Amino acid sequence: NNETEICNKNREEITSIEREQVEKEDSDIVKYDEKTAEECYTGKKGSDDVANTQRKKDEKAQSTGKRERRDSTPAVYVPVERRPDIQESRLQLPILAEEQVLMEAIKDNPVVVVCGETGSGKTTQIPQFLYEAGYGRDAMIGITEPRRVAAVSMSQRVAEEMNLSQRTVSYQIRYEGNVTPETKVKFMTDGVLLKEMQKDLLLSKYSVLVIDEAHERSVYTDILIGLLSRVVPLRTKKGNPLKLVIMSATLRIEDFTHNQRLFKISPPVIKVNARQFPVTVHFNKQTPGEYLQEAYKKVCKIHRMLPAGGILVFLTGQAEVHALCRKLQRSFPSVGDAKVKKTAESKETKKSKKEQKLLKIDLDNYTIEGDEDQADDGILEDDIDLEAHIVGVDDEDDMDDNGDMPTSDADLPIHVLPLYSLLPPDRQQRVFLPPPAGSRLVVVATNVAETSLTIPHIKYVVDTGKVKKRFYDKVTGASAFQVTWVSKASADQRAGRAGRTEPGHCYRLYSSAVFSDFQTFSPPEIARRPVEDLVLQMKDMSIDKVVNFPFPTPPDVEAVHAAEQLLVQLGALQHTAKPKDPKAAPSPVITPLGRAMARFPVSPRFSKMLALGEQHGLLPYVISIVAALTVQEIFLSGGGPAGRAEEQQEQQEQHAHSSIAQLKNTWAGQGQSLLLGDIMVLLRAVGACEFAGCTNKFCEDNGLRYKAMTEIRSLRTLLTNAINTVCPGAKVHIDPNMRPPTELQAKLLRQIMLSGLGDRIARRVPTDQISDKSHKFAYQSTSMEEYVFIHPSSVLTKTRPEYVIFHEIIEARKPYMHCVAAVEPEWIPLLVPNLCTFSEPVQDVPPTYDSDTGRVRCHRTSTFSRLGWQMPSVEGD
Ligand code: CDP
Ligand code: MG
Repeated sequence: NNETEICNKNREEITSIEREQVEKEDSDIVKYDEKTAEECYTGKKGSDDVANTQRKKDEKAQSTGKRERRDSTPAVYVPVERRPDIQESRLQLPILAEEQVLMEAIKDNPVVVVCGETGSGKTTQIPQFLYEAGYGRDAMIGITEPRRVAAVSMSQRVAEEMNLSQRTVSYQIRYEGNVTPETKVKFMTDGVLLKEMQKDLLLSKYSVLVIDEAHERSVYTDILIGLLSRVVPLRTKKGNPLKLVIMSATLRIEDFTHNQRLFKISPPVIKVNARQFPVTVHFNKQTPGEYLQEAYKKVCKIHRMLPAGGILVFLTGQAEVHALCRKLQRSFPSVGDAKVKKTAESKETKKSKKEQKLLKIDLDNYTIEGDEDQADDGILEDDIDLEAHIVGVDDEDDMDDNGDMPTSDADLPIHVLPLYSLLPPDRQQRVFLPPPAGSRLVVVATNVAETSLTIPHIKYVVDTGKVKKRFYDKVTGASAFQVTWVSKASADQRAGRAGRTEPGHCYRLYSSAVFSDFQTFSPPEIARRPVEDLVLQMKDMSIDKVVNFPFPTPPDVEAVHAAEQLLVQLGALQHTAKPKDPKAAPSPVITPLGRAMARFPVSPRFSKMLALGEQHGLLPYVISIVAALTVQEIFLSGGGPAGRAEEQQEQQEQHAHSSIAQLKNTWAGQGQSLLLGDIMVLLRAVGACEFAGCTNKFCEDNGLRYKAMTEIRSLRTLLTNAINTVCPGAKVHIDPNMRPPTELQAKLLRQIMLSGLGDRIARRVPTDQISDKSHKFAYQSTSMEEYVFIHPSSVLTKTRPEYVIFHEIIEARKPYMHCVAAVEPEWIPLLVPNLCTFSEPVQDVPPTYDSDTGRVRCHRTSTFSRLGWQMPSVEGD
């Protein structure tokens, strides 16, 4: 009664929306509502409005006969009237020499691979060749780019070169585009084309598809190539051939060309020999800790001492780019007198302020599906003043390795331009124009300048050797961007940017010893990505047979099967009652819950928790829990079982934890929050730390690891932004005053944890079954034969609930369960039904009929997994 009272009281505290939900359910058992999920999913599709409207228009155009079925090989030459200056400059491009060979190859083969140095004219010229050869006559020429910046900028460039409007040469990126029914050449991101394939697998609107930047091996490009390898023969069979052109800036193409699974007949390779001038590579003697500052010094030095010629600097993100640009603008005059300089500068500052605002908006619009270039856009860059990190060395010359240079031209004006993915198109275009007379061009860019865009007039490259890359957490699958070293191939690409028009120099801000440790190539993204997540994403794209999918680099088959099993167990996939082809291996299909889960940028266990958390208004808590579980060792004890003598370590841990005893005591609370166990401790740690402003002192005083807490903080921001983008209805925000969950919320959180960790359950072994004393308080878990134990640092060591869930088992002196929470046995058959077997309806409990819903309810007994635990009876339809 007491508990009911507390429960009722807590219920009052929940907001009206939550109350509505709870009452609608008329139960305090978490449940995933498929209808709402569907709506949510449909809502998600709504974001593709531009594409949808376009498709409808296209379909209309098609039905009115504007786009009829076409001949297999276009034979009609479509003339293009180019401006003489354009014609002249394109004739300089190496690809022009290969036009005939290339077009013959495309005519005679369904698939062609083109390899050519960056800047040889692949992206701007091949679409034009195809247009002139008539491929755009009755259908579209599609070009995919892994980065938004390239899709937009290239469509503009090609339209200009061809003297056509953007109604004919257009682009489509995730949230915007200018495609019209007249569009003949369409640049788009690979994600956009994948979405189109979900609606029209055969891509009947296109006569040819060009996959650009295939060497980047983004997971979407890989999946596209896999899908297209099947679509191309299908289209041939239907008498309406589709041509596929794969373009790469490196010669590492065996995964596409010598891959029987992908293409039965190896596609021909057309190599474009670009004119490349020699580039002298200079390594730093030592590798500096602060690459941004080092880059600044190097640019200053080149500008002061070396002959005319543009400088291209490679940094990792938007914030860094702006910081360096501002610093350089302040250090050197721009073209014109001091007055001009001042106005130019203030304009620039105003602009960058505006851009900072834009950056904020971009952060809000963080997208996981687009996935094209958040790294470039500086997502995740902390809101720190990077510029302050570049200390003034304007007049220093302490790192002169070419000692004999004069230092007189210090006041030569410079023309500094930023370049990164989300830069507005008109500002991007500025890098292609010659700098004002008498000034030196300095382009400060992210990785986009490596192969996506070729910047003319560059003689010096300053390479920090760094790139921002997405990394996945092994446990939670949560991904975050981290700055790492590039590969040798990337470093060479970057160096190559200096030798486009004359011999150049590349300054590598790292030592040759560091370089020799670089990976030769970066492995394809697919090899770095968690498989469970990939399987779910592919099922969400309606690719059901993931095991049979012709990946250029396939993931491990066993791992794919295991991932499917886990996803079925989580309810994200289900086996269809009747497989279409009875002989084929069964491949489960996605459920509405699975679709909801696919939206969250974490691995399926955690995305299920988020999906349930969303429907029960508990997202802020679930986000905090997921973030905290991702970050290892948040307590200062060090925790890890490795290294020390275990016995001693255990004592030490207990001791160390006593330093946060106060925290724990106040946090552990009673009732539901105590039963939420170590999860509650994590929640409180996150909440208390946030409340205290996440300071170093607070962490130290409370036995928390400062670095872990700041990591949790940025992960929470990342997840919160991502979730707001994919489900705007969630409107979740980070509340510095997050209050501890109420009793009811704590209970729902325990259920949510159970629903994601349903295969990590343990039951306390009854005392009479224990003969060995050392097995006192042992648990039987679903994951090992051996007995497991609650870790001594857990808040549940004294309570020892009968059924618990745990986050992981770590072997120390004994196998210990870490991060334990209590669950009620009656929840198990309801929330983890896929691991239970149910009896026939129990005879002595008569079924009831509900005339309103037309449902018959009956009792069944349940047994949990292979362990044969008898679970409470369930009532079901
Ligand atoms: O794709 P690939 O790297 O082979 O070359 P591209 O992007 O087609 O560039 C060919 C040439 O066009 C380069 O020299 C670029 O500098 C130039 N270009 C330009 O001047 N303005 C643009 N908006 C795009 C390219
Ligand atoms: Mg290109």
